[in-house]
Amino acid sequence: MSKGISIGIIGGTGSMGQWFRKFFSDAGYMVLVSGRKTEITYTDIINECDVVILSVPLDAAIAISGQIGPLLRKDQLLMDLCSLKEAALKNMLDNTEADVIGTHPLFGPFTDSIKGQNVILCPGRGERRLKWLENEYISKGAFVTVMDPSVHDRHMAVVQGLTHFLTICMGRTLQKMNMDAGSALSCSTPVFRINYDLIGRLFAQDLDLYKSIINNNKHFNDVYEVFLSSVYEGKSALLSGHDDGRSLYLENIREFFKDSCKEALKESNKIINALYL
Ligand SMILES: NC(=O)c1ccc[n+]([C@@H]2O[C@H](COP(=O)([O-])OP(=O)(O)OC[C@H]3O[C@@H](n4cnc5c(N)ncnc54)[C@H](OP(=O)(O)O)[C@@H]3O)[C@@H](O)[C@H]2O)c1
Repeated sequence: MSKGISIGIIGGTGSMGQWFRKFFSDAGYMVLVSGRKTEITYTDIINECDVVILSVPLDAAIAISGQIGPLLRKDQLLMDLCSLKEAALKNMLDNTEADVIGTHPLFGPFTDSIKGQNVILCPGRGERRLKWLENEYISKGAFVTVMDPSVHDRHMAVVQGLTHFLTICMGRTLQKMNMDAGSALSCSTPVFRINYDLIGRLFAQDLDLYKSIINNNKHFNDVYEVFLSSVYEGKSALLSGHDDGRSLYLENIREFFKDSCKEALKESNKIINALYL
């Protein structure tokens, strides 16, 4: 596809939409942005753009693809940025004859560059557009993985669902213990400080996004059950029994992660050092 093609972002008024507006503009494409109250309407986007990107919450992406999907031509591309892919992709495919790609950029709007970031692409319809998009991202240094949408959602139940769930529960525990910023930070270690920052980071952002990532992922309940069994197992291994048993429990987990622990130590040292620069 030539740089002459135009890209329209529905919900381009929001944070990811603005990020991708700049990304595609910098790459030489003509980009139009539309929201519910902008002068440029969804209809303008459909009429004037070869590629239509839905950069709105999942429920809205489903509703909007129902409205605009039937109006798209076969030679257009409809894609979304939603954090869950099964429902979004199925809905887009069901509602249009245009090419379709489900995408999930695994980074947020505060990221400076796509270089080194992961992007998941879930093919829907249209091999040529998939190659085009893959090349756009790879040529700017992103790591692109092409993946089945249900595999993606299962992974996200851990990568996003469990991660955010743990952060929320840690925040709730600190709240119950009345450990506010003053008392927490005056006696924090670097690792606790990072955890504290991650709690603040979550609660400083759009809570609807986090609710949706946990609540809308049908695979999260399975992950939650495994996590809960690990909590009980950890309690009985570490808080009771013999010291040998405690060591065995920890050694067994270390064995699973093997050499990646050394890399993780190096990388987390960089994070800790950067914190105090
Ligand atoms: N933020 C992240 O870290 C991140 C990372 C990866 C993927 N994503 C995904 O990217 C998409 C956009 O997220 P975002 O963080 O950019 O959200 P955002 O800043 O809230 O922007 C979303 C835009 O969607 C529009 N919108 C909101 N509710 C709508 C509704 N009910 N109907 C129609 N339009 C509506 C709004 O535009 P108007 O008010 O102008 O219509 C808003 O500007 C989501 O699907 C999210 O899951 C986000």
